[in-house]
Amino acid sequence: MKIAVFPGDGIGPEVTRQALRVLEALDLPGLTLFEGDVGGIAYRRHGHPLPAETLEMARAADAVLFGAVGDPACDGLERHLRPEQAILGLRAQLGLFANLRPATTFAGLETMSALRPEVAAAIDLLIVRELNGDVYFGDKGTRTLDDGQRQGWDMMAYAEGEVRRIAHIAFRAAQGRKGRLVSVDKANVLETSQLWRDVVNAVAADYPDVTLEHMYVDNAAMQLVREPGRFDVIVTGNLFGDILSDQASMCVGSIGLLASASLGERATDFGTFGLYEPIHGSAPDIAGQGRANPMATILSAAMMLRHSFGREADAARIESAVARALADGVRGGDLGGDAGTAAIGDAVLERL
Ligand code: NAD
Ligand code: IPM
Ligand code: MN
Repeated sequence: MKIAVFPGDGIGPEVTRQALRVLEALDLPGLTLFEGDVGGIAYRRHGHPLPAETLEMARAADAVLFGAVGDPACDGLERHLRPEQAILGLRAQLGLFANLRPATTFAGLETMSALRPEVAAAIDLLIVRELNGDVYFGDKGTRTLDDGQRQGWDMMAYAEGEVRRIAHIAFRAAQGRKGRLVSVDKANVLETSQLWRDVVNAVAADYPDVTLEHMYVDNAAMQLVREPGRFDVIVTGNLFGDILSDQASMCVGSIGLLASASLGERATDFGTFGLYEPIHGSAPDIAGQGRANPMATILSAAMMLRHSFGREADAARIESAVARALADGVRGGDLGGDAGTAAIGDAVLERL
């Protein structure tokens, strides 16, 4: 079980440390950890946010545990040198096109949601976000118009095959859950979205047991706070999925709780190669203070055991330890409490 660990910037190393403590406590057979530099720290040490040796380390591993990247001091760099290119590069270079972002309300946490408790209590959804395409990876640039002003532009595009493969992932996920899939797009305005909708409809023929609904992204953002319990699986493009998943995190209670798995097609001995990371970023506003909630990263490690190593029981053990810590009132600052990063790690370990 080879895991490449990329802690990154800001709170990345702080939350990753706690996830590693949990993994180490499970005493997994043949566990080998390699640590690599990504993001702003990698830029400072090696001149590039995703050094070749880091990428090689990822390729040689069965799974990647990723903290976060992002550093305000790097915001002025040319785009290809910015910390965020590390995560974008890993997703693209490793063919990790399927990003699973589950959002479920934990028992006892209903009152921490930004929504009314009875609305929040019903949340149990999975966002399947396409991760290798969309406006993220289209051509982009800044040009000067005839009248002399500058214009920034980014090309939004999806090829049929890109939509088809993520649609299959989403339909299969729905089959394993409540059998309901909502595809989110902006087909009333965007050609990219019309093609998305057409391809999803075609794929639906293979899954007669799944109920498919299409929803415009603006309505989806509204429905997500009006009645999030109506959603089972949501499938959407890279940009909409990014935004809706941060929104879903506050419906559950905090961005410090949401984990993710980014999967492609490469098989490992026990499952699928994947990259696992919290959905949040490097949180520069609280970095270095020991205040970050590590639960999202700990839960990401659980997803790693499930998807890359076929260790469902260990994954469930971690998830249950986190759920019990929350039920027992363990709260980080993001949830109105005063437990620090290490104390939350301790609380999870005690319940493991
Ligand atoms: P962010 O997710 O880092 O932080 C948003 C807010 O949530 C902040 O107030 C932060 O303190 C809080 N927060 C986030 N995670 C938390 C945690 N675990 N515990 C407690 N509070 C938490 O988003 P941002 O501020 O928009 O971005 C900061 C940097 O992170 C940027 O450089 C951005 O590009 C980067 N980023 C990276 C990733 C990634 O590595 N995958 C994801 C998102 C943002
Ligand atoms: C995320 C982040 C990234 C994204 C950034 C840092 C490139 O927001 O993982 O959600 O937009 O995908
Ligand atoms: Mn995001």
